[in-house]
Amino acid sequence: MITLRFYSIEDWESFVNMKSELIELKAQLLNLRRMVDERTKEVKQETEKRERIEHEVAKLERLNIIGQLAAGLGHEVRNPITTIRGFLQMLQNKTDLLTYKSYFDLMIEELDRTNSIITGFLSLAKNKPTELKRQCLNKLLANLFPLLLADAYSQGKKCIFEPGDLADLDIDTNEITQLVLNLARNGLEAMPPDGCLTISTFMDGQNIVLSVRDEGPGINSEHISKLGTPFFTTKESGTGLGLPMCYSIAGRHNALIEFESGPDGTTFLVRFSQPMEKTHSEN
Ligand SMILES: Nc1ncnc2c1ncn2[C@@H]1O[C@H](COP(=O)(O)OP(=O)(O)OP(=O)(O)O)[C@@H](O)[C@H]1O
Ligand SMILES: [Mg+2]
Repeated sequence: MITLRFYSIEDWESFVNMKSELIELKAQLLNLRRMVDERTKEVKQETEKRERIEHEVAKLERLNIIGQLAAGLGHEVRNPITTIRGFLQMLQNKTDLLTYKSYFDLMIEELDRTNSIITGFLSLAKNKPTELKRQCLNKLLANLFPLLLADAYSQGKKCIFEPGDLADLDIDTNEITQLVLNLARNGLEAMPPDGCLTISTFMDGQNIVLSVRDEGPGINSEHISKLGTPFFTTKESGTGLGLPMCYSIAGRHNALIEFESGPDGTTFLVRFSQPMEKTHSEN
């Protein structure tokens, strides 16, 4: 224990001053620590965000290279496929070949599947032309909704559309339709019968966000890093081109795709970061 002895009133005063300075210094130190903690947290969040964006850009670049390769090959392969399909259709109707009808059907079906894989591949190229038109995303979704509803009902599942109040957006109708169909089909395929798929839109600051939420079992953690890689699929009859197409389309629309997944379901968010106008379009 320290014993303090004061020889004069000045001694006492300077001790009291020192003590209050010390208390103030301590408070400043605590404040500084808090600021350092907050700044560290901010830097960590910024770094994570930057890493996420870099990861997305690298993924898009890979998709673009694949898409460019496919563009060259795809056009060459498509022409002979069209010729073969035409001949098969012609032969299919010959009376002496009617016994082979089921074979012809199967061959044509397989050619159509090949064609749709090529179409999916072609859409991965970054330089694929887009026809942007200013419109309300809700309108596009409302037009598409009956198709999604029919898809859901045919599997004994439900589908809800919750439109938010949105600004207009420059989008390519066909491409965004394809993106919504791919995400919605993944959601429906992930859910057991009775599950409900919720499609909603909302504004998040300046961003328009499209959300596709399912009640499936979530994405297996081992699969998360592979999502968006062409031909990655866990489904028997999947091609693994659905999500790569979505990422590619999002890239062409200056949008980011994020997802949250857990045992109660998965939510895919498409965040459009285009400069917005407050007005709504009339068409
Ligand atoms: N909502 C989801 N819930 C759970 N897993 C999902 C979900 N969406 C995607 N996945 C996983 O990601 C994989 C890749 O999806 P992607 O859409 O690219 O291909 P796919 O659905 O398998 O085939 P397709 O080419 O027919 O779309 C799926 O096989 C599935 O394992
Ligand atoms: Mg899919």
